[in-house]
Amino acid sequence: MKIFSSTANQPLAEKIAKRLDLPLSSIETHVFPDGERRVKIEGDVSSTPCVVVAPTSPPVDNNIIELCLILDALKNAGATKITAIVPYLGYQRQDHIFRTGEGRSLEVVIKMIEACGADAIVGVDFHSIKIPELFSIPVTHISAVSLFAKKIKNMGVDLSEACIVSPDMGGLRRLEALKEELGGIETVSVEKDRDVVTGEIKISGVHGNVKKVCFVVDDMISSGGTIVEALKKLQENGAERMFVMVTHPVFSEKAPEILEQSLAEKVFVTDSIFIPEDRTFPKLEVLSLSEDIAESLT
Ligand code: R5P
Repeated sequence: MKIFSSTANQPLAEKIAKRLDLPLSSIETHVFPDGERRVKIEGDVSSTPCVVVAPTSPPVDNNIIELCLILDALKNAGATKITAIVPYLGYQRQDHIFRTGEGRSLEVVIKMIEACGADAIVGVDFHSIKIPELFSIPVTHISAVSLFAKKIKNMGVDLSEACIVSPDMGGLRRLEALKEELGGIETVSVEKDRDVVTGEIKISGVHGNVKKVCFVVDDMISSGGTIVEALKKLQENGAERMFVMVTHPVFSEKAPEILEQSLAEKVFVTDSIFIPEDRTFPKLEVLSLSEDIAESLT
């Protein structure tokens, strides 16, 4: 097997390769002055199963095209089975039509990935339980829940004084999985509404018994608005220490500053998306998915 990486998250690809005891194979990537890309696989991949690590994180469209070009290059060069490891899959939030006239964004992206040559896909904490069904190729789903459970256990918090929180009703399944890994803990959900046009977030209620220590768990942070509003609501309901545990650090615009100034004591994320040095902040801690992804390939 050979393992390749797009330019989106080379550090994660290197960690996965190291765990598999394989060198990271090279791709020459050139970006033309007009933004177009050209990729060239280095070395012989004929009759060889190949893996490409390529989150389609921001800049989403560039990273999707780069993944598709790499898949096409591997296919043309004779790779036998091509597995796309897409730790963050862009366009997941538009996984169906919300309003008449909208495009099915995620289905378009999936068609591109499949048409360009992916034979299998490995994804991490998809936005909804239905997403794997949209693929025609086999999907391996990895969850960061185990990493978060391990972290909570190592923090030495008295779990009878703690709760896990979903900042919207869509994350309840994730909470149940985490509760099971922790061997039981209070669960709380926040009722959130986001205006589909303006993006404004309104928290209408909190369900469950808010404890002194709260772990707010979600699949992604983009603007940071959901987390910030949820933390305020939890504090109003008696929370004293709050920790954020989110799989995908999309971190749009001012999210790093917003999170650093938030009520969170720490913000735990995974390395599904590469965070450049100038987008990190003191409260941030990154947990690596490399072990789980490497295991899924063996
Ligand atoms: C929403 O359904 C997701 O699970 C996240 O809560 C949301 O995408 C976070 O976005 P933002 O950080 O912009 O509030």
